[in-house]
Amino acid sequence: MKLNGNYKNLEESYLFSTIAHKVNAYAQAHPQANILRLGIGDVTLPLAPAVIAAMQQAVTEMGKKETFRGYGPEQGYAFLRESIQSYYARRGVSLAADEIFISDGAKSDLGNILDLFDVENTVLIPDPVYPVYVDTNVMAGRRIVFADATAENGFLPMPDEGVKADIVYICSPNNPTGAAYSRGQLAAWVEYARKNGAVILYDAAYECFVCEEGLARSIYEVEGAEECAVEFCSFSKIAGFTGTRCGYTVVPNALAGGALNKMWLRRQTTKFNGVPYIVQRGAAAVFTPEGEKQIAENLAVYRRNAKRLSDCLDGLGIRYTGGKNSPYVWLRCPGFDDSWKFFDFLLEEANVVGTPGCGFGKNGQGYFRLTALGGEDATAEAVERLKKLLGK
Ligand code: MLT
Repeated sequence: MKLNGNYKNLEESYLFSTIAHKVNAYAQAHPQANILRLGIGDVTLPLAPAVIAAMQQAVTEMGKKETFRGYGPEQGYAFLRESIQSYYARRGVSLAADEIFISDGAKSDLGNILDLFDVENTVLIPDPVYPVYVDTNVMAGRRIVFADATAENGFLPMPDEGVKADIVYICSPNNPTGAAYSRGQLAAWVEYARKNGAVILYDAAYECFVCEEGLARSIYEVEGAEECAVEFCSFSKIAGFTGTRCGYTVVPNALAGGALNKMWLRRQTTKFNGVPYIVQRGAAAVFTPEGEKQIAENLAVYRRNAKRLSDCLDGLGIRYTGGKNSPYVWLRCPGFDDSWKFFDFLLEEANVVGTPGCGFGKNGQGYFRLTALGGEDATAEAVERLKKLLGK
């Protein structure tokens, strides 16, 4: 037996596991500390009442012979795919139901989709970005080139004709920087992909936070994107499903002459058993008028948190991006060049946890990410502690 040697090329542990271990060790050594966790982008508000009611109803159905369900349809139940279809249609994007695949989340699909691509492909990944893109390609042994996202380009790298790539990752609104592409900017990426015969893997997990005009919420708002892009999205951030697990991936029929859609169906039907009926019912309730109203209230809380954090940084004179079309605020570490040193300083001096920017790539060194998905009281308290510690 030979092990996959590519794993030796990975960082020793996944970024958020490293943070959790560090914070747990600190908490054990300081049991009195009231630690405020603005690190991992996990939601804190409970599921919306409409979602709970739909899941309860589904539980009842599962307990009755007449309404019990076993294995579900391979791509997900039609009721959920149709509700996603209409969610897109309301934003002017037309999708066929057989282009939508229900899954247990964007992270798994972003990794699993790589089964469909040859190991010889070159991959273009923004730096900094969500570490899953790099890690999954390192595991497979693919060649990776990076697109620098820096303060100079507003953390929104644009295509460079000198760089040839076959698979291009885009995350917008971006995790971790919060920067979001306009439709015009995305059109340039679509043009690059079509010209080079590349595929774009577009992570739209944070689309629900986009509020400014002109910014894209789906890559399919750009003409021709259906010929070169796969889109990944999730119920985690829009509806608090991080623990409940449900997402979806759009694989257009126009992509690679329909080959990719067929291959993804083949892959998923072989390696994935689908999302529980109860969860899919809950997810479908997200896009009902009642669900949308309740979810908008939750998102408003997270937006208020983001505003609080941004106002605090404004007051302290600390440079940052995000916080407007994203639940993440991305700041320059004040007085520190090393993100992990700033992490330790905040944890020890203010008992506030964030995410070191260098965990998202080399260009993240010296930066730090705070999430607005925490509780309202915890965020307000964190702001007070930041003011006290950094305002000196
Ligand atoms: C993050 O903190 O970057 C996210 O929670 C990661 C994820 O959604 O998997």
